[in-house]
Amino acid sequence: MKMIARKSLRAVLLAAVVGVAAVGTAEAAGGEAPHIERQHWSFGGLFGHYDKQQLQRGFQVYQELCAACHGLNRVAFRNLVEKGGPEFPEEAVKALAAGWPNQIADGPNDEGKMFERPARLSDRIRGPYKNDNEARASQNGALPPDLSLITRARNVHNSAPWYTHIFLMARDILTGYQEGGADYVYALMTGYKEPPANVTMADGMNYNAAFPGHQIAMPQPIPEGGGVTYQENAGATASLEQNAKDVVAFLTWAGDPSLENRKQIGWMVMLYLLITTLLLYIGKRRIWAKMH
Ligand code: HEC
Repeated sequence: MKMIARKSLRAVLLAAVVGVAAVGTAEAAGGEAPHIERQHWSFGGLFGHYDKQQLQRGFQVYQELCAACHGLNRVAFRNLVEKGGPEFPEEAVKALAAGWPNQIADGPNDEGKMFERPARLSDRIRGPYKNDNEARASQNGALPPDLSLITRARNVHNSAPWYTHIFLMARDILTGYQEGGADYVYALMTGYKEPPANVTMADGMNYNAAFPGHQIAMPQPIPEGGGVTYQENAGATASLEQNAKDVVAFLTWAGDPSLENRKQIGWMVMLYLLITTLLLYIGKRRIWAKMH
C-alpha cells in the first residue's frame, strides 16, 4: 500500500514538473504579447450595466468613423431602439435606416431582377462591401471584420509570469472580469504610434502597439484629439480616448446585449440559494433537536 502511494506521489510530482516546463517553453516560443491596460467600464464587474448615453455616443462614432469599412451584420436597426441599448427614438432610427448609405439587396422584383432598396427598421446594419473578396480588393488585401462580435472574438493575452496565472485567474473570477475584448479594442484604437527605429514597416501597414505583430492594415480610425464632435448634452466631450471608450462600449453592447439581464439573474440566483441554505439549516436544526 505504502509502495503504491509513494509511486503515485512520484508520478504526480513528475507530471507537475513536466507541465510547468511545457508552459514555460510555450511562453518563450510565443514571444512577448503586447501589454494591454485594463480600463474602467460601466458594464464591468458583478454589478455592470450599460450607460445609455455612452452607447448613443458610441454609435455616433461607429457611424462616422467605422461604418465606411466595417459592417455590423448581427445588429438590426430596430435594436438601436430597444430597451437596454442606446434607446434612440424610433422615428430617428427609421430615418437613419432609410438614409443608410449601404443599401439592402432584395428581389427579385416583378421583372425578375435583383435590386437594392433603402434599409428598414428590421434590416441589419450593412457594411459597405457585398462580400469578403470585394472588401479585400478595396482594402489592400486586408479584411475589415464585421464588428458585431468583435469584443467577444478578441481577448487579452496574459503576459504575467506563468506561476501567477492561477492567482490572476482566481481574481478575475471573483471580480467577474470579462472585459478582455473591450480592453483590447480600446488599446487598439489608442495604440497607433510612430514605429520604433528598428522596425521596418511593410507597404501600406501602420504601426500599432496593441495589435499582435504590431503591423495593421487599418489606418488610425480615430484621429488624435478625437474625430467625432458630440452634441452638447451627450454627457462627454470628444477626445481620442473618449471616442475610443464610447465606440468600444457600443460594440460590447452589440456583441452582448443581454449582459445586464444576465448579471441581474446571477444575483437573484445567489439570493435564492442563500435563502434555501438558511431554510435547510433551520430545518436540520429542528429535526435533529428531537433526536436526543
Ligand atoms: C479605412 C477602412 C477602415 C476604417 C474606417 C476602420 N477600419 Fe477597422 N479595420 C480595417 C481593416 C482593413 C482591418 C483589418 C486589419 C488587418 O487585418 O491588418 C480592420 C480591423 C479592425 C479590427 C480587428 C483588429 C484585430 O484584432 O484583428 C477592429 C477591432 C477594428 N478594425 C475596429 C475599427 C473601429 C472601432 C473603427 C472605427 C472607430 C474602424 N475599425 C475603422 C479597416 C478600417
